[in-house]
Amino acid sequence: MSTTILIGAQWGDEGKGKIIDVLTERVDWVVRAQGGNNAGHTVEVGEERFVLHLVPSGILHEGKRCVIGNGVVLDPVALVEEIQGVAARGFPVEGRLFISDRAHVVFPYHRMLDAQGEARRAKGDQIGTTQRGIGPAYSDKAARFGLRMADLVDPEFPALLKARVEEKNRALAALGAPVADYDDVLAAVQQAMETLRPLVCDTVPLLHAAVRAGEHILFEGAQGILLDIDFGTYPFVTSSNAGSGGASTGSGVPPNRMDRVVGVLKAYTTRVGEGPFPTELHDADGEELRRVGREFGATTGRPRRCGWFDAVVARHAVMTCGVDEWALTKLDVLDGFETLKICTAYELDGRRIEHFPANVREVARCRPVYEEWPGWRTSTRGAARFDDLPDAARRYIARLEDVTGAPAGILSLGPRRADTLFREMPR
Ligand code: IMP
Repeated sequence: MSTTILIGAQWGDEGKGKIIDVLTERVDWVVRAQGGNNAGHTVEVGEERFVLHLVPSGILHEGKRCVIGNGVVLDPVALVEEIQGVAARGFPVEGRLFISDRAHVVFPYHRMLDAQGEARRAKGDQIGTTQRGIGPAYSDKAARFGLRMADLVDPEFPALLKARVEEKNRALAALGAPVADYDDVLAAVQQAMETLRPLVCDTVPLLHAAVRAGEHILFEGAQGILLDIDFGTYPFVTSSNAGSGGASTGSGVPPNRMDRVVGVLKAYTTRVGEGPFPTELHDADGEELRRVGREFGATTGRPRRCGWFDAVVARHAVMTCGVDEWALTKLDVLDGFETLKICTAYELDGRRIEHFPANVREVARCRPVYEEWPGWRTSTRGAARFDDLPDAARRYIARLEDVTGAPAGILSLGPRRADTLFREMPR
């Protein structure tokens, strides 16, 4: 199996950073194909904690090569800061990080428009974005007004940027908002490009050569399927395809070259930002999940909303992403609970439904249908094999596999690389 797509199977924050980090041992390349620095992938290496936003997590493994693909929107100034941060901590990127010349660029006016968009939405319609300019940058891409990394290395870049800044400033001024300063934006980008220029290339032939050579590639998904612009809780979503399809369109490696999809699934559910969340808890159990699971956004620091495991969501991920196996994370967070609940279906306006509705107002009216499972009330940390887990934990996992229709091939029992169990999966 040489190409693996890893996706988030809920609303992001499933613990993808850690799983990617563990799987990176087995691959040659790690590729980001969508999203931008709205993502926050947390990785613990020894005693050190890294939060990566744009740089693929593979950078923390010597000798692995990383690609930021065409589907990503990247803020050059933020990327340089991140590159310098990891380099200062012992992970230089030269010769290991390749940036697609087709990737779209996030400029300060995108961030300003993101903030304005949120501020101007009525209460209840706000998305709760990360304010990183992601939506406006993807809007420009779709409107064919964006600039790509190829434009930033072009001698005409100053003129191309000037036209954009003028146009966006007209929009910002009309909103009565502060405008962008062209000279400042140009200077900041040109300074960032001193670091980035040598890393920019056509990453498509690079990845195809790797596929032909039988090298192993891991596609590092960002966000999660319920934040996907097509399959998520639209409009409370991000602006890219966070499902497995995004790995192909965002990298140039076509679907028939993909071998396996790993869905990262938290043993309970969380969400940051606004939008419906059927199993959300507003009680002591929800507080406990947040406290024990340290559920605070890696990018914005916002407290995450917490709730019980939702199999309707997980089945949606299996269908839309073709999940072959789960990496089930944060099982240890449930160690102290006496009773656990699993949502197996929803009740919508008196009907039982098994599939995730398209209409976000319907999702908001969905009531979870729960079954209760006994907790194990003992620490799972340190288990070396699946069979070492308490019976109740194994039963909980078996039930999750049953109700979601995919097996749990990887179990994560803590933030460190060592707290990970692998089960042999039939291939
Ligand atoms: P945006 O991607 O900044 O436009 O935000 C849109 C929605 O996606 C908001 O609800 C964010 O909280 C959410 N979001 C974006 N990126 C992530 C992520 O990496 N993890 C979790 N939520 C995210």
